[in-house]
Amino acid sequence: MKILLIGASGLVGTAIEHVCAGKKYELISPGHTEVDIRNKNVLEELVAMHRPDAVINSVAMVGIDPCEDQPAETFAINTTPAMHLAKSCSRAGSIFVQFSTHAVFDGLKDTPYTEDDAPNPVNIYGASKLMSEYLALNMTERHYVLRFSTLFGKRRNNAMGFVDKVLKKLEDNTPLRIADDRMDTPTYAADAARELFKLIESEKPFGLYHIANAGSVSYYDFTARLKDRMKSSSDLSRGKDSDFPSKTKKPLKTHIISNRIGPMRPWADALDAFLADRAGR
Ligand SMILES: NC(=O)c1ccc[n+]([C@@H]2O[C@H](COP(=O)([O-])OP(=O)(O)OC[C@H]3O[C@@H](n4cnc5c(N)ncnc54)[C@H](OP(=O)(O)O)[C@@H]3O)[C@@H](O)[C@H]2O)c1
Repeated sequence: MKILLIGASGLVGTAIEHVCAGKKYELISPGHTEVDIRNKNVLEELVAMHRPDAVINSVAMVGIDPCEDQPAETFAINTTPAMHLAKSCSRAGSIFVQFSTHAVFDGLKDTPYTEDDAPNPVNIYGASKLMSEYLALNMTERHYVLRFSTLFGKRRNNAMGFVDKVLKKLEDNTPLRIADDRMDTPTYAADAARELFKLIESEKPFGLYHIANAGSVSYYDFTARLKDRMKSSSDLSRGKDSDFPSKTKKPLKTHIISNRIGPMRPWADALDAFLADRAGR
């Protein structure tokens, strides 16, 4: 299988590279300096030249506050390229894979969101990703749109997600206060990448899928598990989301589950697997 991956140095991109290497798939993964996703002509030429079996868009501007501060830039990176890639894939006969996020929901639901729940983004990041979903779903027939929850895993770039930041503090034995009313479904990026290839290889119906390890957990309980596994002596205390005022509105409960694929392994098992992989790095 020939795969064109854009955004390979990021968290999900790194996991996809690893899966492709294991499967000996032909992988074309131009770096950020070679391909700027805002450049429509470059995207069109790339897809037309390689005619891959699948094009995977793993590029994103992910920071909630930067996205809110720079809406035009956010839509230029997170949204419009999905349209150019979808149309290019349609012409080349390639499958188009677009990633999205649990942040398309408003975070008011006590139980995990399924693919059948109505999105209602509360900030620019969520809105930009929801628009990218619509473009992918409507501008090419052969598409997979995958929504992820908060991810953890190895990455080639130096960006820091929530779990990277917590890990660093636990390793430094820095005190931590974490909200116990913020719910999520932390997911191992390696599991998410494997699930993507299962969809493609088993020719699952095209459409929208939630991809997440099983279970729902508060940020506090997740961090407590991480602290225990890391044998960190950081002082960990409980807080409430309202204790951490943020200039940008964020959804509170962004746990997700799939109605369309079978359950993935529980998040706690996936976390243990990540820590074992990380220890062996
Ligand atoms: N991480 C999460 O917890 C999470 C949760 C839900 C959904 N998602 C979604 O999953 C997907 C992948 O996210 P991620 O966490 O892997 O992101 P990431 O680690 O921040 O990686 C983003 C990638 O995009 C590249 N990039 C940024 N701007 C670019 C541009 N203008 N042109 C070309 N490449 C550019 C980056 O290159 P450099 O390394 O050179 O900067 C990097 O390879 C995104 O769609 C995101 O919305 C992620």
